[in-house]
Formats: sequence, structure tokens, C-alpha cells
Amino acid sequence: MKVLVALLLLVQLLSCKALPHGPFHPLHTRVIDCDDPESEEAAAIALNYINAHHPHGYKYALNSIEKIKVLPRRPFGEIFVLELDLLETVCHVVNPLPIENCTVRPPTDYVVEGDCDVKLVKLEGSFSVLSTKCHSTLDSAEDITQICSDCPILALLNDSQVINAVDLALTEYNRGQDGAYLKLLEIGRAQVQHFPDIVSVEFAVVVTNCSAKDAQDHVDDCQLLPKDLAQFGFCNAAVFTKNNITVSCTIYDHQPGVTHHHLTHDHLGGQLPTVVQGFKHHDLRHSHHGSVHDTSESSSAEASVGLKPAIPVVKRAVGAVQDPTVPSPPVGPGPRHPVCPGKIRHFQV
Ligand SMILES: *[C@@H]1O[C@H](CO)[C@@H](O)[C@H](O)[C@H]1NC(C)=O
Ligand SMILES: *[C@@H]1O[C@H](CO)[C@@H](O)[C@H](O)[C@H]1NC(C)=O
Ligand SMILES: *[C@@H]1O[C@H](CO)[C@@H](O)[C@H](O)[C@H]1NC(C)=O
Ligand SMILES: *[C@@H]1O[C@H](CO)[C@@H](O)[C@H](O)[C@H]1NC(C)=O
Repeated sequence: MKVLVALLLLVQLLSCKALPHGPFHPLHTRVIDCDDPESEEAAAIALNYINAHHPHGYKYALNSIEKIKVLPRRPFGEIFVLELDLLETVCHVVNPLPIENCTVRPPTDYVVEGDCDVKLVKLEGSFSVLSTKCHSTLDSAEDITQICSDCPILALLNDSQVINAVDLALTEYNRGQDGAYLKLLEIGRAQVQHFPDIVSVEFAVVVTNCSAKDAQDHVDDCQLLPKDLAQFGFCNAAVFTKNNITVSCTIYDHQPGVTHHHLTHDHLGGQLPTVVQGFKHHDLRHSHHGSVHDTSESSSAEASVGLKPAIPVVKRAVGAVQDPTVPSPPVGPGPRHPVCPGKIRHFQV
């Protein structure tokens, strides 16, 4: 009897082992094009995430989807790996305008191009971002002078002329208005022009609990409004001389839940983050989240497939001799390759 039970168990074990399940199931890799609505949905979610997590500088708009890969995820769902091409807009990160309403900087205005690798998971039809890895590059002065020989050159954000101009402009603005006293959060962009000498600056500000008059007497007591009332703004200014300044500021309505803690905490008073010293723009590089190459939360099947350039379909010669040690590929027309990169929404950089 004991022998029989043991034998039965053994048979069961063997048959279990022979059953194709778990890792032996072939995983289906879906192929979708860069301009597929599903790719666009993934890209839009990634873009919102990037803009919400980019603590400095300006918001970015999508220019094109460069690559997309959809991979099965165990036990459920799919992983989307995308490469996105972005362009800097004129909306500073404190500007509450939705990204669709933000204007992309024109080519004459020193385009900043962002490159992002993003990874999302799609579960039950909805996407969430796992990681983003971006960097951005500023158009070169040579490129600008080719299309516009007298366009002013961008200045370093820590240039003393620039810092001085921002200081003068904000003082001028605070003096001439009867709203709340504004403090500098960060300098976004600056251009220095010669003959006549004009320093043009863009900077983000925060509203304090003082009036301009209060501030004259005791500026050190002027504090930011409490979190549930926090208000931000953005200014454009052109400084010709100390006595010839044009400055305009827009103060945005309070956005519930939006505190820009990073900016108010670390950069109040225009303290430049060290990563910006010596640069002319706020690089997207400083807003990584998660790791694009982190596969701990995903399957091993996905780990082996990286982002590769879309390669042309390799024609398989009919009747080619196959290496007998290599399992034969599945019969059929071979894998379809996604149509990528996708359409360009603004302009080719
Ligand atoms: C954004 O643009 C859309 C379409 O042009 C417009 O209907 C909407 O009012 C704009 N939103 C804001 C906040 O300006
Ligand atoms: C602003 O807030 C600070 C800290 O709460 C307070 O000491 C100061 O008196 C306030 N200033 C004004 C003008 O209300
Ligand atoms: C300020 O500078 C601009 C540009 O140089 C000039 O056109 C304007 O007349 C100046 N205004 C005053 C009040 O000096
Ligand atoms: C700006 O920062 C760079 C890098 O730290 C430094 O080399 C340069 O001297 C700074 N420029 C000014 C005007 O402070």
C-alpha cells in the first residue's frame, strides 16, 4: 500500500512537472506604434508626472514619442517603456496653467530640448509611472545666430549682472504696487544684450504676509503665507539702467495642495541651487524618479528587453540552414516592428 501511495505521488509529481505552466508559458509582447492612442495616453501621463516632479525652471511639452515598448508583466498587467522628446515651454513650474495651454519657446528664443526615458505600468486599463530619467539641452548660441544674428545671448543664471537686475526689478515692482510684498524664489532665464545694455530676466516669486509698506519697516518679519494660502507668481523684467526698469508680474490664484515646498524651502531669496551655478537653464536631469533600469517590481522576462532603436525588419531567407542547437523561431511572418518615432508636434530640433 505504502509503495502504491509513493508511486502515485511520484506520478503526480512527474505529471505536474511536465505541465506547461508559469514560466513556461510564452509571454506575449504587444507591438504598438509611437502614434497609437495608447502610446499617447502613456506619454501624456508620463509628461504630467515629469512636470509635477520637476522642481525648477519651466514645464515641458511633448514634441514626439521616439520609441515605445510594451512588455508583459507578471503576474498581471504590462510595462510600457517610452522615450520622449520634450520642449521647454514659457510656463514656469509655479504657473498653474495646464501644459496643453503653455506655449513652447520658439526657435529664436533658445529652445531647450528634453529627453526622457520613462517606465509605466498598466494595470486594469490605467497607467502609473514607475520611473523617469531625463536630461535637457540648450540650443547652442551658434544655432541661434544662424537664424537670428542679433538675438540676445542667454546669460548664466549666476551672472552678477543678472542677479543684480533681478534684485532691481523686484524692488521696483514691490515699491510700485499696493498688493502683498513679493520675495524671489528663483531666476528662470536671463539674457544680456549690449548697445544698448539691457538685461532681460524671468523669475519666480512667492507672496508674503506683508504689504510693501510693512516690508519697508521690517522686511525680516515678512513670512510666506501659510501652506493653505500659499501663492506664487512670475515676473518678466527688462533693466536698462538703475532708473529705467520695466517689470511685470503675474500672481497666480492659490492652488489647493500646491506648496512647491522644494522651492520655498531651499531657494527662497533666489538662492541658486548649486547644480545651476554656471548654467543657463534648469536641467531636467535633476528630477529623476525611481530608476528606469530598476526591475525589482517587474518580471525577469521584461528585464532582458531594453530600449533598443527600432531596427528594420530582417528578412529571413527561405530555406536557410538553421543551427540545430538553437530552437526554431515561431512560424509566421516574424515580429512586427513599431512605427516610430511618432509625429512631431512642434518642430524638429
Ligand atoms: C486652455 O486651453 C483651452 C483650449 O484652448 C481653453 O478652452 C481653456 O480655457 C484653457 N485653460 C486655461 C486655464 O487657460
Ligand atoms: C507675518 O508673519 C510673521 C510670522 O508669523 C509675523 O511675525 C509677522 O508679524 C507677520 N507680518 C504681518 C505684517 O502680518
Ligand atoms: C529707457 O530705455 C529705453 C531703451 O533704451 C528707452 O527707449 C527709454 O526712452 C528709456 N526711458 C527712460 C525713462 O529713460
Ligand atoms: C557661476 O558659477 C560657476 C560654477 O560654479 C563659476 O565658475 C562662476 O564663476 C560663477 N559666476 C559668477 C559670476 O559668480
